[in-house]
Amino acid sequence: MRTARGPVPGRDVALRLPPVGEGRRRPAGFPGRVPYPATMAHTFDAAHADRLDDVGRYRYCSREELVGMLDPTPDDVVADLGSGTGFYTVDVAPYVSTLYGVDVQPVMHELFAEKGLPGNVELVTAEVADLPLAEDALDRAYSTMTFHEFAGTGALAELARVIRPGGRLVSVDWSAAGASESGPPLGERHDLDSAVDLVRDAGFSIVSSDERPETFAMVADLPG
Ligand SMILES: C[S@@+](CC[C@H](N)C(=O)[O-])C[C@H]1O[C@@H](n2cnc3c(N)ncnc32)[C@H](O)[C@@H]1O
Repeated sequence: MRTARGPVPGRDVALRLPPVGEGRRRPAGFPGRVPYPATMAHTFDAAHADRLDDVGRYRYCSREELVGMLDPTPDDVVADLGSGTGFYTVDVAPYVSTLYGVDVQPVMHELFAEKGLPGNVELVTAEVADLPLAEDALDRAYSTMTFHEFAGTGALAELARVIRPGGRLVSVDWSAAGASESGPPLGERHDLDSAVDLVRDAGFSIVSSDERPETFAMVADLPG
């Protein structure tokens, strides 16, 4: 278990809640590419955590799709950014060496830990914008349905710091081009273009970027 200021032995759940800062929230109908101030952050309400364990979510991103985009080797060190109750963390864990479950809300880690952690998962209580990880510590990082909660220039710069050259960032999230049949209101989402801009501006090269019904998926690599 790690907190925002360094590793803590064991896997007990830290109770310190770092300030929320990097997420973005847009008023409904607001155009896509304008940066928002950090004070407009939106964080998933832990009171609805049970919704995250609904297998119906695979309609929007399957394990196979996620692992395929991540394309990890068994030796890879990976981070799940905004891991929540670990729905997709347990899906990726068998395919990597170490998987950090990063979440800003300790209660999400507590809920994940109650279900039982895979042996190679280490929980990290931190903001994506302020990770207690060394430079180039990660081979890969991914987020599912969370990009809109953390993505800002600070968070993307932090990811460019901790992902090694040649490493990969995978982002699957609700799209502002969706119909809002599920997920957050359209006004809180990024469209694919603004997400691509943010990631590219942080120094990543876009490998693929796809708009699908309700969600977008983006694979981006750091130059090797
Ligand atoms: C919508 S939930 C999705 C959880 C998980 N990715 C999934 O698909 O099941 C978003 C999660 O991201 C976390 N989160 C939001 N902003 C964050 C940030 N800036 N840094 C770290 N975690 C964050 C929330 O606490 C929440 O657990």
